[in-house]
Amino acid sequence: MTPEITLTQAPAHVRHGSNIGQPLTRREGVLKVTGGARYAADNHPAGMLYAVLAVSSIARGRVTFLDVQAAKSPPGVVDVMTPANRPPLAEDPDAKTNPFMFRLDLLQNDQVRYANQPIAVVIAETLEAATEGAALLSPQYEAQPARVGLDASESFVPPAVGVGNPAKVQRGDVEAALATASRRIDATYETPAQYHNAMEPHAIVAAWDGDALSVDTPTQGLALAQGRIAGLFGISPEKIHIRSPFLGGGFGSKGLISGPQILGIMAARLVGRPVKLVLRREQMYGPVGHRAPTRQTLRIGADGDGRLSAIDHHAKTVSSTFDDFFEPAADASHTLYASPAIATSHEAVRVDTGTPLFMRAPGEATGSIALESAIDEAAQACGMDPLAFRLKNYAEVEPISGKPFSSKALRECYAQGAKRFGWARRPLAPRQMRDDAGFLVGWGMGTATFPALMFQAEARAVVRSDGSGQMETGAHDMGQGAWTALAQIAADGLGLELEQVEFRAGTSDLPDAGIAGGSAHTATAGMAIHNAGAAVIAQLAELATGDERSALFGASNTGVVARGGRLFRRDDESRSESYVDILGRAGLTEMEARGKSAADPAAQSIYAMHAHGAVFAEVKVDPDLGQIRVTRVVGAFAAGRIINPRMVRSQLFGGMIWGVSFALHEHAVMDRRSGRTLNANLAEYHIPVNADVPSMEALMIDEHDPHVNALGIKGVGEIGITGTAGAVANAVWHATGIRVRRFPIRLEDLVMPASH
Ligand code: MOS
Repeated sequence: MTPEITLTQAPAHVRHGSNIGQPLTRREGVLKVTGGARYAADNHPAGMLYAVLAVSSIARGRVTFLDVQAAKSPPGVVDVMTPANRPPLAEDPDAKTNPFMFRLDLLQNDQVRYANQPIAVVIAETLEAATEGAALLSPQYEAQPARVGLDASESFVPPAVGVGNPAKVQRGDVEAALATASRRIDATYETPAQYHNAMEPHAIVAAWDGDALSVDTPTQGLALAQGRIAGLFGISPEKIHIRSPFLGGGFGSKGLISGPQILGIMAARLVGRPVKLVLRREQMYGPVGHRAPTRQTLRIGADGDGRLSAIDHHAKTVSSTFDDFFEPAADASHTLYASPAIATSHEAVRVDTGTPLFMRAPGEATGSIALESAIDEAAQACGMDPLAFRLKNYAEVEPISGKPFSSKALRECYAQGAKRFGWARRPLAPRQMRDDAGFLVGWGMGTATFPALMFQAEARAVVRSDGSGQMETGAHDMGQGAWTALAQIAADGLGLELEQVEFRAGTSDLPDAGIAGGSAHTATAGMAIHNAGAAVIAQLAELATGDERSALFGASNTGVVARGGRLFRRDDESRSESYVDILGRAGLTEMEARGKSAADPAAQSIYAMHAHGAVFAEVKVDPDLGQIRVTRVVGAFAAGRIINPRMVRSQLFGGMIWGVSFALHEHAVMDRRSGRTLNANLAEYHIPVNADVPSMEALMIDEHDPHVNALGIKGVGEIGITGTAGAVANAVWHATGIRVRRFPIRLEDLVMPASH
C-alpha cells in the first residue's frame, strides 16, 4: 500500500510512503515481553529511599493526630512527611489558574476531603520499613458524615462540562415535539463510579540535584507535567527532566500529573536523597481521578414511521467538594441522530470524593450507553428493527452544529458490520433464540462515535550525511502502539526506510508532542512529525535544485519526490540524487528542521469531525441463573487513514473490551456510611478477563477524510467503547426481554420469574 500524501508546503514534493499502512509489530514488543522495558518503578538510583503513602480512612473531616514518633521507630525509617514539615511550595496546591489545572492534596493542611486522601508520607531505607512506619501512624480524626451518591446534596447547573462545553444546549423545541410525538420513550439510566485501574500504578522516582530535578514517572503529557512541577516548586521547566519511556496503561488517569507523584518529589526534597513512591492499588481509588457516576434521563419522540422528532438528554453527575470536573454525558446526543429538536442538559452535586477525571471516552462512553439503550427502546416502541431504525435516523450532518461530516462512512459501518455479523437473521422480538445448551441468545447493536481531535505538537527532523535520519518528539506510548505508528509516519516523512530512522520519544527534553489523550495522539504528534519531515526535505530540495552540479538542478518548479533516501524530479524520475550526495557536496554532516501541528480552525469552522462505527454483539444468558456471557462482537469503524492496521485493530479491541466491561463488569461500590470504596482492588472491582472476552472482530472501513488533517488521521483509542457498551446492553434485552437500565447489568437483574 502506497497511499498518496498531499503536501501543502513549497517547494512541492510528494513522498510515496512504504511504511504508513503496514501492520508492523510493536517496536518495543520484544523489550516488553522479555522484561527489558524499564518502567518508572524499575529505577533505583544510588542512595534511593522508599516512600510509602499513608492515606485517610475517613472521607470528610480533619486529621487530629498522627503518631509520627511511632512511625519513625522501625529501623530504617528516615523521616515522616506531614503538613508540619513538608517542604514549602511556590504555588498553592489549591490554586486553579486554568481549567486544566486540578487541585492537589499535597499535605497543605489537616483537612480530609475524600477517602484515601494522602495524609502523610513515610520515607525509609527499605520498602518494608516505610510500610511498617506508615502503619504505625495510627491517625486520629475528627470525622463528619460523608456525602455520597447522586442525591447527596443540593444539585446545581455546572458552569461547564468536560473541557469547557456548555452545560445546556438546545436546538428546536423539544417539549413541543415530545407533546405531539406518536411514540415516546422516557427512561432513566444509571452508570456507576468507575476507576481507571491501569495495570501499572502511579509511580515516581525523583532525584534532586540542587534546584535541578530528575524524574522517572509515567505520564500521558510530559510537557504539562513539567509545567505543573515547575509551577509548584518554583523552578524553570528546563531544570526538570522527566523520563516516561513506558506506561502500563493510562486511561486518562496519567494525563495530568497526580498529587501522589508530586508527593514523591516533595519527599525527595525533604530528605535530600532520591526517593521512589509507588501507589498501592487501593490508593488509586481516590487521589488519581475516576469516572463519576451518572443518572441520565432520555426522552425521545418519534412519529408513526419511526422518524425521530425529539431527543432530550439530561445527565446528573457528581464532582468533588473542592474542584470541578463534570462528566459531559448528555453531549453524546449532539452527534449521532438526526432530530429536528435536540436538548441536552447537565446538573451536578458535590460529594466527598476525589475529583473525577477523564476516563476512557469521558462523556461519550457514559452518554452512549444511555443513548444507545434509549434508541433501542425507541425502535422497539416503533416496532422496528434497531438497525432499520438507526438507518432511518442517523445524522447526515452533525445535528447540533449543522456542519457536514462523514455520514457516508457511518452508513458503510452499519452495512458491513451487519453483514459480517449476520444481523439480517435477527428475530424482531426478544427471547426468541436459544443455543443447544438452552441458553437464551440475544443480538444487540450500538452506534459508535468519537470526535477527531487534534492538539498542538512539535517535532524535530534530521537527515544526516551517512544516509540516516532522526525524528524527535516527546510522544507517549501507554501501550497503544503510538511509537510504532509514529515511527512509520516519521520514516515516510523523511523519505527513508524505517531501519534508517532513529525515532526518539518519551522524555521531556524533546519537542512537546501534546497530551496523549482524546484519541488525538497519532493525529497530533503524527502531523508534527509529517510537517517536520516535509520541512527538512524542503531544505534538501532547495539545496539540490539550486545547484547546477545536481541532477535535480532547475526542478524547483516541477517539484521533487522523496523516497528511499533520494530526491527524484517529479516530472522525470530518471533524474535523482541521494541525500548523502546532496549533503556531502554542501559539506554538511546533517540538516535539521522543525514542524508543528494543530487543528485547522478554517476546516473546523466548516466541517464536523468525528470517527464513526457500528458495533454488533451477541450474548448468551443462563435462563435460570441470569449469568451473562458475551459470545461475539463485531465492530466496523471508519477512522480515517489507518497508519498501522495491527495496532489499530488492537486499539479497537481494547475499546470494545472496555465496552463489555462498562455494560457488565465495572462498578466501584461505595459504602454510604463511610464514603469509602468497598471494592478498591482488582479482585472485587470486576474487569473482563480472557474468559469474559468473546470472539471479536474489528472491520476497518476505508475512509479518506481530507479535512481533519493532511494525512487524514482520526483517532481510534476510545471509539470502541462507545458502540459496544450499548450493543451489549441491547443484546441482553434481546436475549431476555428485560430492559436493565442500571449498569453494570448484574445477574440478579435477570433472574427470571418462574412464569417464564
Ligand atoms: Mo483519555 S480519557 O483521552 O486518556
